[in-house]
Amino acid sequence: MKKDFTILGIESTCDETSAAVLKGGTELLSNVIYSQIDEHKKYHGVVPELASRAHAAKIAAVIESALGQTPIDCVAFASGPGLPGGLMVGRVAAETLAVYKQVPLIGVNHLEGHLFACEYEDGRACRPLEFPLVALVVSGGNTELLYVKNYGEYKELGRTRDDAAGEAFDKVAKLLGLPYPGGPQVSKQALLGRRDAIRFPRPLLPGTWDFSFSGIKTAVSYYLRDHQNISVPDVCASFETAVVETLVAKTLKAALKYKVHHIAVGGGVAGNTLLRQMMEQKGREAGLDVRFVDRKLSSDNAAMIALAAYKKLAHADETGQAPKWNINVNPNMKVRSWR
Ligand code: KG4
Repeated sequence: MKKDFTILGIESTCDETSAAVLKGGTELLSNVIYSQIDEHKKYHGVVPELASRAHAAKIAAVIESALGQTPIDCVAFASGPGLPGGLMVGRVAAETLAVYKQVPLIGVNHLEGHLFACEYEDGRACRPLEFPLVALVVSGGNTELLYVKNYGEYKELGRTRDDAAGEAFDKVAKLLGLPYPGGPQVSKQALLGRRDAIRFPRPLLPGTWDFSFSGIKTAVSYYLRDHQNISVPDVCASFETAVVETLVAKTLKAALKYKVHHIAVGGGVAGNTLLRQMMEQKGREAGLDVRFVDRKLSSDNAAMIALAAYKKLAHADETGQAPKWNINVNPNMKVRSWR
């Protein structure tokens, strides 16, 4: 396959239906995102059945809008982790198109997508990651810490044992009567509050790289039950600080332990200003280079899926190995090495 191949990426793992076209591994020709937020808002979280229906209703139009008449060499879709219904809609759309266009079909891990999204700058994938690095992928469905030796060479260090960090933000927002998605709302309120007003726990789980955020959420719910006349900004500021301090402490510790000089942070929660500030400051103090995904691509999008597919294709091209693209969807997919 030629090196400047053009890839159509498709993303439908959670509540965004997205399609993007990436040319030559750098030039993002389109990235269309349909967000289902309005469908899920009144339930304060993603309702899987509604998400599947919305993906099915929108995916053809989203693909048409992203693709137009552009010729493509490959179709890639996010095959997991994610909600089963959405994954299946993405696969059927991607496979139908690949068969029709007679081009290869590639399944891509959604979490790898969030990591590679860090390479985009002003709509171009032009800032290659520097390896080895420690990656934190932190979203509404996942909180994942990875050691990344190179493209396609991973060691999973830890993941959340219960709620993902974004999920904890969404649940705390619900407890406080703030709209969905809760992350940006909690952050906005936090700007008006005192970060040391309430001491919520920092679940550092010594001896493991895993995370656990349900305890902080429960501590917030007990605080709300036991106190009257609470200050919403103080609760938000104290909660946000507890989550962010935990994420930063574990990520930095992993970077130092694995002796890397680079950290990359992707996923919806990577849009959080306190996380960006604290990780950058603490990283600088420790002599580490910290790379955050561009805010415009922190939430789910297909540009990141197309780029992750490009890395796989380019590797297969370089090594001349016969590519075996796994296209089975897997809601609990782990990050696996392919190099
Ligand atoms: O990556 P994403 O779009 O979808 C998933 O794969 O989950 O992430 C969405 C999650 C939501 O839980 C949302 O509340 C959270 O990211 N989020 C934030 C912020 N912006 C989005 N959490 C904290 N602070 C933010 N600024």
